[in-house]
Amino acid sequence: MALGRFISFEGSEGCGKSTQIKRLCKRLQGTGHDVLLTREPGGTELGECIRDLLQHAPEGEDMTSEAELLLFAASRAQLVRRVIEPKINSGAYVLADRFHDSTTIYQGIARGLGEEIVSVMNDFAVAQCLPDCTFLLDISVAEGRERIRSRSGGEEDRMEREPDSFFEKVRVGYLELANNNPERFVLLDASKSADELELEIWGNLNKKYGVGS
Ligand code: TMP
Repeated sequence: MALGRFISFEGSEGCGKSTQIKRLCKRLQGTGHDVLLTREPGGTELGECIRDLLQHAPEGEDMTSEAELLLFAASRAQLVRRVIEPKINSGAYVLADRFHDSTTIYQGIARGLGEEIVSVMNDFAVAQCLPDCTFLLDISVAEGRERIRSRSGGEEDRMEREPDSFFEKVRVGYLELANNNPERFVLLDASKSADELELEIWGNLNKKYGVGS
């Protein structure tokens, strides 16, 4: 049986990656592919508990950057071994709403923990399981914030409460990462309409893997 493919989606808050993942999932299923969607943090029972700690629980409010890094890594380690690897090995497409690049950027760059420790943690969490292709949806900080505000009615989670300067670092970090890894990344202008982006993503996947018409 052919091995599946592992596609990750990355970008700052409000970039629209969750919408695009759902649309891509529908298209792939429509052309007969087995598809699994995952999100991080989360995607397993353990991971969803960790997600709550990281984003909403009052116990997480005073979290150190180091504890935060370890929690993201723990969620990913569980997701890779229990869900992603078995699914890819069964021949499916796995579409990940965030993966290790998020840790490289948010904890390594925006929190300032540094490339070295984040790289060690990422390697430990994912072992050899890495995305074949990564779509980066690039959006300005102001537009991303505006979209989050209109979506959540003004309620922000622990990460969303970070200042604009944090998300500027996230944006610049992602663009540099994509620039340094052109064989894996596809950079998209997320200010385009959802329909335009959907077509661009589908076109790119077709070119790479011949996923369908
Ligand atoms: P989101 O997926 O709904 O955007 O929320 C996830 C939040 O967690 C987002 O603020 C990015 C952040 N995050 C990290 O800081 N590091 C990570 O490794 C991951 C997966 C997410």
